[in-house]
Amino acid sequence: MSDSALRPMTVPEFRQARAAGRKLAVVTAYDFTAAIIADAAAVDCILVGDSLGMVVQGHATSLPVTLAEMVYHTRMVARGSKRALIVADLPFGSYQESPARAVRSAVKLLKAGAGAVKLEGGVRMAEAIAACTRADIPVMAHIGLTPQSVYRMGGFKVQRDADALLEDALAVERAGAFSVVVEGVPAELGAKLTKAVTIPTIGIGAGPDCDGQVLVWHDLLGLYDGLRPKFVKRYAELGALAKAALEEYCREVRAGSFPAAEHSFK
Ligand code: KIV
Repeated sequence: MSDSALRPMTVPEFRQARAAGRKLAVVTAYDFTAAIIADAAAVDCILVGDSLGMVVQGHATSLPVTLAEMVYHTRMVARGSKRALIVADLPFGSYQESPARAVRSAVKLLKAGAGAVKLEGGVRMAEAIAACTRADIPVMAHIGLTPQSVYRMGGFKVQRDADALLEDALAVERAGAFSVVVEGVPAELGAKLTKAVTIPTIGIGAGPDCDGQVLVWHDLLGLYDGLRPKFVKRYAELGALAKAALEEYCREVRAGSFPAAEHSFK
């Protein structure tokens, strides 16, 4: 077993992956069992994303998610994961007001077991990123299509303003972010942003030239049909498998063939 299999990936190791030309595989997870599976698959980083507002809680956006809920899910993931870097999302309303508020909220996520936090916004969040970094809280930034800005953006829309995005990428790097998620931009722009910074870019709908990729657990595994964005690749159809298994269970219970002798105590 390699050394890195025995302890969590560190923030410096995450950064060094880019220099070494090693692509980073990031996936969201929201509970203990999912974290164990992600760890066993050797993902580099588990993102406890506020996408849980949609795929776990059933909301239309991530906006209703609270900091207390993020703390709850981060604790569960931290109990299941031993080797991935755990990054927890700062939810809407927990950091935008002031850099001091951002630090206070981020501290709660680190105490819950995260190794870093993620927040959305470029130039306008640079001060919050700098304040967290000064407080020894590693920050993954998130630019491009930022889902918490859904009302300002008028929907989940591909972002194409290359100059503004370049400024955002440079601002979060200058502020101290150790990495940046780039979401929902044309592939050529994803490549341009990746060239412009020295920190790892983690793409989602940002083309193949980012330093790593992130997908939402339920999308990757075919568990969620609510939205099917173009950038999602479904690596399994677990939703359909689960439905078939449950149908068989119902049939057997109704037919009286479950439980059989081997499932019964003598
Ligand atoms: O909340 C989330 O899952 C995210 C990823 C999609 C990047 O922010």
